[in-house]
Amino acid sequence: MWGVGHAAFQVEGHTEPSDWKRWTHTDGKIADASNADQATDFWNRYKEDFALAKELGANTFRMSIAWERVEVQAGVWNVEALEHYKKMILSCIDHGLEPVVTLHHFVLPEWIADKGGICSDEFEVEFADYAEKVVSFMSQEGPLVKWWMTFNEPQVLTNFGYITGGWPPGEKDLSRFMLANRNLVRAHVSAVKRIRTLNLKDLKISIAQHWRDFQPKSRLNPTHKAAALLLHQVFNRNFVIACQTGINTWWMPGSKFYAEKLDVDGGTLDYLGINYYGRLMVKTMMKDPFVEIEEGIGEKTDLGWEICPASLTNVLRQAWSFRLPILVSENGLADRSDSKRAKFIEDHVAALGQALVQGVNVLGYLHWSLTDNFEWAEGLEPRFGLVEMDYEKLIRTPRPSFYAYQALIQKLQNS
Ligand code: FCB
Repeated sequence: MWGVGHAAFQVEGHTEPSDWKRWTHTDGKIADASNADQATDFWNRYKEDFALAKELGANTFRMSIAWERVEVQAGVWNVEALEHYKKMILSCIDHGLEPVVTLHHFVLPEWIADKGGICSDEFEVEFADYAEKVVSFMSQEGPLVKWWMTFNEPQVLTNFGYITGGWPPGEKDLSRFMLANRNLVRAHVSAVKRIRTLNLKDLKISIAQHWRDFQPKSRLNPTHKAAALLLHQVFNRNFVIACQTGINTWWMPGSKFYAEKLDVDGGTLDYLGINYYGRLMVKTMMKDPFVEIEEGIGEKTDLGWEICPASLTNVLRQAWSFRLPILVSENGLADRSDSKRAKFIEDHVAALGQALVQGVNVLGYLHWSLTDNFEWAEGLEPRFGLVEMDYEKLIRTPRPSFYAYQALIQKLQNS
């Protein structure tokens, strides 16, 4: 699978009431004071973007459904919005692109956020209702979508929402982070069970797990090593363990302890989506929260994230411990001048190749992103696109790296 990915809120425009809509309209929350009210207008221009993805030579397109559009109040469905998504997915397929559809990519309908969001006891059932509705709607005339994802990057969502406070709901409380994670696992497991009762043939359900290569800042310092292992466990592995074994345990020094055993029918992931953005160096300090992370010393993207292709091989090897086929569901960089993107892709695909040689079952690679889009608390400023967006005129212009990725896909498909 070769392709690209993006998420509803970051591209669609015409946003409905949600926690993120409110956040983007609250002073001081978005670095460049922009919002996603228009974004790339993908909602109306999806055909243009699918045509670009086709021209790229992609055979896979990852997108998401905006929950706030389709369920406007508890159990009140906007059938027009669901129909619109069905048209979108059909158009995707018509362009020769296999859709990979994420049900929740960071954004909550406002009515759910106002009831306590992920931390509320009702969240599990609310999400399962929504997931079942969408999957059954998209399967009325036979399954249109084979590859589903329940949640995108659970620990990124809960980290920014409940530890740093940089995203909605803006809390800073380690125990709430643990509770939110516990509830996301419950919601995932319930949703998968509901989807499975629909008895649809050949559906594959997963999550997109943000997976970092956590390395000790000093290999000679045992506390750095221990801290790196702790973060690896909590931020990379724990959610996947819970989905597969039902052991839904969340704890870190300084947090409350949550533990339970869920019934997961032998596992609730059919494959594993891995979003890879680099390694992080881990060290310890003598005051709360005792663990500190920093970027490595390599070359940086426009957002200051280190470029580290070699760690993709490590990450894929680590994730392969679950023995689930892996889809690299995101990998990309902010690079306005497009001076690093082509080499970035080539090097990361080569690192993926290394993992394949070492026996990891990798299904494919989806670059983030086809077009520039709204990058959450960073706003419209960072440019992640193979295609440059003129947000004034909504004109799309492929960057040189678009053609480099196109050539690479062609070469690899012929080899
Ligand atoms: C990931 C998110 C995605 C995008 C990229 C740059 O963490 O899943 O929506 O913002 O980072």
